[in-house]
Order: sequence, then C-alpha cells, then structure tokens
Amino acid sequence: MKFLATPLHSKYGVEVQNIQLRNISASSGYNELRCLFEKESLLYFSDQDLDDSAHLALGALFGPREDRSLNPMDRDPAVSRVSNVKQDNTLYGKGEKRLLDLQSNMLWHTDSTFLPVPALANILIGRVIPSSGSSTEFASTRVALKEMPDRLKQRIHNVYFKHNYSHSRRKIDPNLAADEKFTHWGNQIWKAVWKNPVNQQESLYIASHACEVIGMDTRQGLDLIDELLEWCTQSRFVYSHSWQVGDVLIWDERAMLHRGVPWDYTQSRTLSSICVSAQSIDGLDDMRYPPRH
Ligand code: OGA
Ligand code: MN
Repeated sequence: MKFLATPLHSKYGVEVQNIQLRNISASSGYNELRCLFEKESLLYFSDQDLDDSAHLALGALFGPREDRSLNPMDRDPAVSRVSNVKQDNTLYGKGEKRLLDLQSNMLWHTDSTFLPVPALANILIGRVIPSSGSSTEFASTRVALKEMPDRLKQRIHNVYFKHNYSHSRRKIDPNLAADEKFTHWGNQIWKAVWKNPVNQQESLYIASHACEVIGMDTRQGLDLIDELLEWCTQSRFVYSHSWQVGDVLIWDERAMLHRGVPWDYTQSRTLSSICVSAQSIDGLDDMRYPPRH
C-alpha cells in the first residue's frame, strides 16, 4: 500500500489522501501507517467512513485501548464522545460541568498524562461540526525541543514532572477540579523528555496537567512548566485543524500538544475519540520515576 502524503506543517504532520482507514489491517497497510505515525506525529485523513467498531479496530492495531472506566466516576463509553450534546439531544449550557470540561480541553495539553498508563495515540473523528470555530490546534514538542535554546534545554535535563488531572481543571473552575472524575487518579510522575525508540527522536512530554517539577519548589516548578509550554506553543510550531465531518486525526501523544478552541455553544459539536495506551515498545519504561539504571 503506497500512501500519498502531503505536509500539514513544514516540520511535522501529513495529510494522507488515498487511504480509507477502514481497509487498514495488521497485514495490510498498518506497517506503513505506523511508520508514518512515528515519523510525522500527526496524520490527517478526510472523508473517512469509520463507525465505532471500525474506529475501535483501527485503535487496536496501535495497542490496547485506554480504559477510563477503571475510574468508577468516569462513565465514558468505549468510544468517548467529545461533545456538548446531551443524551436527550439538548445542549450543555454555560457553567455545566460537561461544558467546563470541554473548556479545559482548550488549555494546551497532552491526553492522559494523569493516568497510571499514559497514552500513545488519540484517534479523533469529526461527527458533528459547527458552522464556524471549533478547530483543534496542535504543536510539535519534538520540533520545539529541537529548536529550544540551550539555557532552557539545560533546565529539563533529567527532570521529571508530576501530573494531576484536577490541576488542569482547577485552572477553569475549582468545583470542576473537586469532581471525583478528576481527583480519582492522584499524581503520576513522568520524565520531561520522551525518546522515541524507533527513531531516537526526543520530545518534551508536558501538559496542562503538569503541576510540579520533582525536587523543585512548587512555584518555581510551575514557572518552568509555563515557560516550557509557552516555548512549545509559539505559532511557528502550531498547525490548526479546521474540522469537516468524516475527518480523522491520529496523533502521537508522546510528541504533540493540542488544544480545542471555543465555538458558539448553541451549536452542536461532536467528535469521537479513542486513546490507545503506551507500552514498553513505545518507550514507556524509560519515562517512569524513579529512573531505572
Ligand atoms: C481531545 C481534545 C480538543 C477539541 O479530544 O482530547 O482535546 O478540539 N479535543 O475538541
Ligand atoms: Mn485532548
């Protein structure tokens, strides 16, 4: 299978134009897809016909599906809906927890850094898209690390971040942060730099959930985290995706930050999402704290 790929950003990401993802299987196309994922960090496919079961099958090729239901307070189905639409088809209003949660997605983040097993990839599909707004923005922390000034790079040498789901929610609303859905997981600690074992490329592993630098005063740590996020999310590292129904984005959670942007919340917006958990072969073991020698 030969993929026809054109750049999304000059330094990362491609659109693949000649592939229907439902035809990809372990024996046909997955190796090429995975190679492109490792190299490009962000893949875009338009006009895809993937129902939930095809979405799950595609995710399973990358690794085990992340099971958020291990948290009894998280009632997301196997395929999560990133949506402002309620079960009864009415819309969540301003100040409702679900909308506040969606607004927390508008902070630059990496998915699932707060879980005991973090994510390798997210596969996100456009289902219902408002007439304007509602893009998703991406920033490559691989490119940003490569171009980072030495004075900043020195400050992440052998550094570990503590991550906490509530921390990012607190930036939006203290009541949201107190919800058991966000307090359940406690703290996780991950190395600040994730080395891709396939191509040895390093990226900064950071998120809105990062709340502390291990061994550093809390305030100083938060300042460093902010400075790093600011560096990585400069416009020259950013690709903004304007959604169409049937779009599929697959990104490497080890090497990308992303965020949503606001839209008119009187309009429906629904994306379907599956995260795949990272495994040893994805370089996970070297991320753990304390480091093994
Ligand atoms: C996500 C996410 C952003 C958006 O689904 O993980 O951050 O634009 N989405 O909805
Ligand atoms: Mn996200």
